[in-house]
Amino acid sequence: MKKGHNTQYVCRECGHVSTKWLGRCSNCGGWNTLVEQRENRRETRRSLSGRAVPVPLSGVVIGERDRVVTGLEEMDRVLGGGLVPGTLVLLGGEPGIGKSTLLLQILMELSGTKGPCLYVTGEESPEQIRMRALRLDPDGGRTSERLLVASETDLQAMEDMIQATNPEFLAVDSVQTVYCPGVPSAPGSISQVRESTVRIMEFSKQRAMSTFLVGHVTKEGAIAGPRVLEHLVDTVLYFEGDRSHSFRLLRTVKNRYGATNEIGVFEMTGNGLVQVPNPSEVFMTQRPRGLAGSVVVPCMEGTRPILAEIQALVSPSHLTMPRRTASGVDANRLALLIAVMEKYLDVTLYNRDIFVKVAGGLRLSEPGADLGIIMAIVSSYQNRPLDPDMAVIGEIGLTGEVRPVGRMNARLKEASRLGFGKCLLPESAMDRLRLPEGMRPLPVKGVKSALEFC
Ligand code: TYD
Ligand code: MG
Repeated sequence: MKKGHNTQYVCRECGHVSTKWLGRCSNCGGWNTLVEQRENRRETRRSLSGRAVPVPLSGVVIGERDRVVTGLEEMDRVLGGGLVPGTLVLLGGEPGIGKSTLLLQILMELSGTKGPCLYVTGEESPEQIRMRALRLDPDGGRTSERLLVASETDLQAMEDMIQATNPEFLAVDSVQTVYCPGVPSAPGSISQVRESTVRIMEFSKQRAMSTFLVGHVTKEGAIAGPRVLEHLVDTVLYFEGDRSHSFRLLRTVKNRYGATNEIGVFEMTGNGLVQVPNPSEVFMTQRPRGLAGSVVVPCMEGTRPILAEIQALVSPSHLTMPRRTASGVDANRLALLIAVMEKYLDVTLYNRDIFVKVAGGLRLSEPGADLGIIMAIVSSYQNRPLDPDMAVIGEIGLTGEVRPVGRMNARLKEASRLGFGKCLLPESAMDRLRLPEGMRPLPVKGVKSALEFC
């Protein structure tokens, strides 16, 4: 095939662009990740609303931006309080996690209470969607006439369909199946998904129609290979969870109209996704009591405190390189905490395998769980359960000090609400605490003094 100047190679994993094909990406080091992409300048250069004219910032009129409440509170929370008209939301997740189910539930709500909806799918037939709808709503009482479905992959046909039916809300499932006739490469290729997303963005903005776009995520965690879509859309949500568990977390990764790091919690049942307004309660009722290696940590997920259970297992190792396995917490963070323990506590860990996990498929990314991880490891190491009435909060510094983290009062309140009467926490946070009634603080300065509570 003759290659013109407009051919480039894009890495599927990191989005790095190269002018020639390489077996290994020079940016991320991934093997065989570069794919050919023909730059389609005429298409990609189009602006959203024709030619722009600069105006004084003070004179910019803010249009009608009333948010539409979807009716699913967990969804509204991650969107930042509802759907802004004209938003393009990318919903990413592994195949089979429940993206189509979530979208159908949202459109069923919106078509019943708000306005006409169109669900365009390239993955299933209308019969299959109807079968799913009957699982969600067996007597059909909540399935409105205003919810239209179509099986279509051609973007041009999709635009005509939107012209004809004039929906207020659109769902496209999935971006990998959409085919844009002007672009020479196959559906699912980088140029196709990018071009299709730009076109969908354009007509959503022009019609002030809110659009949900499904994007399958590869094992490595990138939508459609590269991160190319994330910067094109307004909001990026990831639907995640362990498929062996029924809990699903909807996480905001990017939001032009609200905060990120917000999470919504759902449970997959036989009749679709059910919202979990009190995740702490669910995680706490599943907790084993009186067993070594388990600790409860009040964490902040976005603006909401959630009690999570961290479990550790320490066992003798027969390997030259003992195992360190982390699920739900960062592996590097775990390595650092183990190093701090070896240095400042009287424990021998170099000949032990250490496994740490967060129960229920939750993923913790904040430092407030540090002290909890250490306490869980010590508890398993000593084979002695921690006080089941005690929660643990604190970040660990490299010198072994226990440091305060943000929103201490909200965390304590949540722990108290779920019946915890004691909390191990950093001493330096004591003067700013508003202790809930019945909550006894157990202040500590460093990891060494925390050991007294093991
Ligand atoms: P699906 O929404 O098709 O996932 P995705 O679009 O992300 O690929 O559904 C995923 C799984 O959910 C599927 O294995 C069946 C299961 N499921 C239920 O358990 N209960 C239900 O009510 C529905 C509709 C699906
Ligand atoms: Mg699907």
